[in-house]
Amino acid sequence: MKELGMTLLGCFAIGLFFAMKVYPNLEYSGVGGGHSCTGECYEEYVRVNGTSVDILKAKQALAAMDEFSAIKPLWAGCAACHGQQGEGMAVFPKLAGQSADYIVDRLNTYKNRGEVGPMSSTMWGQAGMLSSADMEMLGKYIETL
Ligand code: HEC
Repeated sequence: MKELGMTLLGCFAIGLFFAMKVYPNLEYSGVGGGHSCTGECYEEYVRVNGTSVDILKAKQALAAMDEFSAIKPLWAGCAACHGQQGEGMAVFPKLAGQSADYIVDRLNTYKNRGEVGPMSSTMWGQAGMLSSADMEMLGKYIETL
């Protein structure tokens, strides 16, 4: 009989969990998910966030303000070694202060597996994945650092 009691108690606990936690969330799921709501709910969403078009325009305006937004993800990789501001770290050379021409020239050298310093092979793979447009843009960006 003791086991039966425990089993019933277990069922009760699970039932309680569903009633308290899961069911209310199920009820809610139509409303909470972003702009998947209609009527008054949608009007409220638009009042707070603007329409999808407004949001897109705002994003485009932000991107236009930062001409380097396209290479920021690429730069994040470079920054892992050369520092966020190109300030250099330990064995990784400082890039800030170099001209765009210098950077592009170096990157082309590395892309062609040329030697600059003793650790050039570290840069071969890095430069190998860059297009010339990437290099130009990175050069211009580094010049601003
Ligand atoms: C894994 C670490 C690492 C990453 C990531 C990395 N670099 Fe380097 N970079 C180095 C090292 C080490 C050197 C020095 C190589 C040598 O001895 O010639 C170097 C050298 C350079 C140089 C030449 C510096 C000079 O003074 O002549 C440039 C330019 C450069 N990197 C740009 C970049 C750019 C742009 C990126 C991103 C696309 C990048 N690096 C990513 C490690 C890295």
